[in-house]
Amino acid sequence: MTTTLSPLDRAKLAVAERASTLIASGMKVGLGTGSTATFLVRRLGERVRSEGLDIVCVPTSSATAALAREEGIRLASLDEAGWLDLTVDGADEFDPDFTLIKGAGGALLQEKIVATASNRMVVIVDVSKQVKALGAFPLPVEVLGFGMEATRALLEKVLETQDVDGRRIEPRRRDGKLFTTDEGNHILDLHLKRIGNALDLAQALNQIPGIVENGLFIGMCDTIILGNVDGTVETIMSSKDQTETGSSNRASSFRMAGAE
Ligand code: A5P
Repeated sequence: MTTTLSPLDRAKLAVAERASTLIASGMKVGLGTGSTATFLVRRLGERVRSEGLDIVCVPTSSATAALAREEGIRLASLDEAGWLDLTVDGADEFDPDFTLIKGAGGALLQEKIVATASNRMVVIVDVSKQVKALGAFPLPVEVLGFGMEATRALLEKVLETQDVDGRRIEPRRRDGKLFTTDEGNHILDLHLKRIGNALDLAQALNQIPGIVENGLFIGMCDTIILGNVDGTVETIMSSKDQTETGSSNRASSFRMAGAE
C-alpha cells in the first residue's frame, strides 16, 4: 500500500511511525491536526486493534476527532483527560530554535491549548517544513468575527512596528465564504515573507483584543521528527530541553507551577 505514496507522503508516514514508538499503553496523548498527524492517528488505530494499545487521546480538531473515532481510538476532552503525557502534531514551518508556524488547517487554537497542557510536544514533519527563518509560509491568526475589520486595521498598524519583509493580510476563505474555525472564529493569514523576531511579533499580536491566538508556537516543541523523501528519519532534540531525567524544561516549569 505504501508503494502508491508520493515521496512526501512516504516521509510523513515514516515520521508518524517513528512518533508512534513514543506512545505506550497508559499514556494520555494529544493528537494533532493535518495530513502528517493523520498518518499518526491511523497508525495508532492499527496499534489499538492489533496490540490492544490502551491510550486516551485528546484531539485538536473536529477533523482529527472524527478520524480517531473511526479508528477506534478512545477520546476524551482535555478537561476530562487533565494533563497529557505527550502531544504529537505537524507544523507548517520550523526554524533552528524549534519555533513553529502552525495553523494551515485552521486548528491552531486547540493545537496550542493541547500542546501547552502536555509534558512534551513532539512535532512530525517532512523536510519541506525546515527553514532557516520563519515567514515564507503565511502566519495564521485566529480572530473573532466581531469587529473583524477593526482588528484588521489594528493589525496593520502593529505590523508596521515589526521586523518583517511583507505585511499583506488576507482573510482565509473556503468555498467563497470566510473560513470558520471549530470555535466559530475566522483566520487572517499574514504574508510576512520573513519574521525577524517571532517572540516580539507574538507578544504584539497578543495585545490586540480581537485576536484570539496566533500560529507562532514558541518554546513549546522539544523534539522534531524529520522525514526525508528517501524514507530516512531523524529525531532532533532541542538541546536546551535536555535534563538529566530527559524531561523538558517546559514540562518541569509547568510542574513546578503546579499545573499537573
Ligand atoms: C493544522 O491547523 C496545522 O497546524 C497543521 O498541523 C499543519 O498545517 C501541518 O499540516 P500538514 O501535516 O498537513 O502539513
